Amino acid sequence: MERGYWGRMLALGIESSCDETAAALVRADRTILADCILSQFEDHRPYGGVVPEIAARAHLDHVDHLIAAALKQADVTLDQVDLIAATGGPGLIGGVIVGVTTGKALALAVNKPFLAINHLEGHALSARLDPGLAFPYLLLLVSGGHCQLLAVEGVGRYRRLGATIDDAAGEAFDKVAKLMGLGYPGGPAVEKAARQGDPARFDLPRPMRGRPGCDFSFSGLKNAVRLAWTGLVSPTDQDRADLAAAFQSAVADSMADRVKNGLIAFQNRYPGAVKLVLAGGVAANQAIRARLSILAAKRGAELVAPPMKLCTDNGAMIAWAGLERWRVNPTPDPLSFAPRPRWPLDPEAAKLPGAGVKA
Ligand code: KG4
Ligand code: ZN
Repeated sequence: MERGYWGRMLALGIESSCDETAAALVRADRTILADCILSQFEDHRPYGGVVPEIAARAHLDHVDHLIAAALKQADVTLDQVDLIAATGGPGLIGGVIVGVTTGKALALAVNKPFLAINHLEGHALSARLDPGLAFPYLLLLVSGGHCQLLAVEGVGRYRRLGATIDDAAGEAFDKVAKLMGLGYPGGPAVEKAARQGDPARFDLPRPMRGRPGCDFSFSGLKNAVRLAWTGLVSPTDQDRADLAAAFQSAVADSMADRVKNGLIAFQNRYPGAVKLVLAGGVAANQAIRARLSILAAKRGAELVAPPMKLCTDNGAMIAWAGLERWRVNPTPDPLSFAPRPRWPLDPEAAKLPGAGVKA
């Protein structure tokens, strides 16, 4: 437990880059004093995916009471907060503008430093809320908007080893679920259906398997599912379950193959014990976790799966990333900071094609 002023430093984190509005209060000694989150699932469900304009309006409607609720839960006033951190991108720009503007306004009102946090940095560092995790580690970030493998070397030091060249993994789950009428969000629905299914009934491709490097691809697999689905005459629940199971198993195989290359590259660069850290909503998938845990064991790596509420979008990870950044560089961002729809963590990494590539 850190002592003194640093350990007591308190950050407010605001997250609004996708379909969750979140506000949290985190202390530098790693205590999460409050973690309030409002998911917009019901707002987007009728459309089978996130509608950016609806998301932005919902963030605007809820961000202020979520912050008030977080302060109340933590039993502190805004004056007692030392740092105000808001997601500055990448993400759906309307939502990011809401969070950034709110963060700046509060910082200005109480004369506290404002930090614009890269959402990916939030995911990358959130596992360090658990005190045992030291740098460097290999991070697999698999969510609805992101799919990448990062070597996390330190605060502000990220090397992207691979990323999706088309859809994000969660996006593929969501699209497949929509196609089969399984509802939104698709990942949990596909996983549930897959439990009753036979993964061997449909022969689906394992995208990128056997190729060098660690990039991912899911759009070909998604199209193969579409072809299989449209080829079924009056599909039954069993057809749906079998196809869901086949899809999930293809994603797990493809992901494990890519992560294997990532582990090898990481082990070559940073010899010693390797930790493979999971983040993002797709990391909730038990079949994928099981596959990755077998892979990690085979390669002598330790799989670190933080609690789900830290893996998915949340405010605590933004507050924590703010504290981590402040510890190495106590310089606020200017109030002229412009929200960023795209914001790669590793600016050196090559640009990738594809509509699902957000960073
Ligand atoms: O990290 P997250 O909450 O938000 C962002 O996208 O940033 O991740 C949500 C994504 C969605 O695409 C959702 O379908 C997927 O994670 N997901 C899952 C599971 N739970 C959530 N995908 C596969 N299996 C799951 N159990
Ligand atoms: Zn996220």
